[in-house]
Amino acid sequence: MNVAGKHYRAVWLDGPQVWMIDQNRLPFYFEIRNAPTHVETARCIREMTVRGAGVIGAAGGFGMAQAFLEDEGREHVDRARETLESTRPTAQTLYYAVRRVHRRGVEAGPEAAAREAQAIADEEIGFCREIGRHAEPLIRDGMKILTHCNAGWLASVDYGSVTAPIYRAKERGKKVFVWVSETRPRAQGGRLTAWELRNEGVPHAVISDTVPASLMARGEVDVVMVGCDRVAANGDVANKVGTLDLAILAKEFGIPFYVAAPPSAMDFNCPSGEGIPIEERPQDEILYQAGLTDEGRVERIRVVSPGSGAFNPAFDMTPARYITGIITPEGVFKPGDFPRPR
Ligand code: MRU
Repeated sequence: MNVAGKHYRAVWLDGPQVWMIDQNRLPFYFEIRNAPTHVETARCIREMTVRGAGVIGAAGGFGMAQAFLEDEGREHVDRARETLESTRPTAQTLYYAVRRVHRRGVEAGPEAAAREAQAIADEEIGFCREIGRHAEPLIRDGMKILTHCNAGWLASVDYGSVTAPIYRAKERGKKVFVWVSETRPRAQGGRLTAWELRNEGVPHAVISDTVPASLMARGEVDVVMVGCDRVAANGDVANKVGTLDLAILAKEFGIPFYVAAPPSAMDFNCPSGEGIPIEERPQDEILYQAGLTDEGRVERIRVVSPGSGAFNPAFDMTPARYITGIITPEGVFKPGDFPRPR
């Protein structure tokens, strides 16, 4: 994606260093941060400097390659694999990437590990392009699309799994409008998707997470499109908490509900969504919010009654029966009917 005329990926490897756009600073500051070691890369994933399943996977793969490049032997890379895998438990792409790079590094050494990690990042982008190609026909001229969280460029290295069809529809001259659900508590919709869509000139409006039911009831939503962090073999999907609410509402109002899913998110070892681990994040993400003051400073304030605690599951699981179709790089499939690895 271009920012101020320059093309960026959300995360990249340069020699032994991982570089990334600091997503905790967006949209108020656009800053690049580097992680010189795999330990630092793991910290950046855990603290959500980088986030979104595709980018968590790419960063994990790069972190694994860094561990090989650190050249401290087999125990070191095995420990690094555990460190990286323990950062965020829900996104399947993290395990997919870390294991693939670990395997390659053990077989063929550090340079091969780095090439494998690079291939994974490149593939994620290719998946998004293909998802865009298959999903663009689902978007008719004048449609109003509702999306949740951020399944854009910042979550998928480049292009974005949900944004790819939107950008493609716009390129083809279709008028599209996107409802962006704010996505509390971290506001990936309000902060990141809104920022991306504005950069790309896509008409949109941010809505609070409580608005979709009334919008749908008024006929203001034509289709819901979300990304995913993991897809179980039966087509159940884990994605940002709040996705389940949207899926149930969409079914009630007869609105198609699509999930964009690269093959790296498919977990065929997990028979159903019940087996997908749901990450629980610190309660401070609910108790506090950060934002820009009128004086241009980013400040953190408490927004919940002092003394109260919070519960903060980061994802939820949407059963396959609520999903109209899973959009993959090979086409749009009924949940559970998508292609298995060859
Ligand atoms: O907690 P996050 O911001 O990493 O969660 C991201 C999401 O849930 C996205 O919707 C998901 O990763 C799909 S986009 C590749």
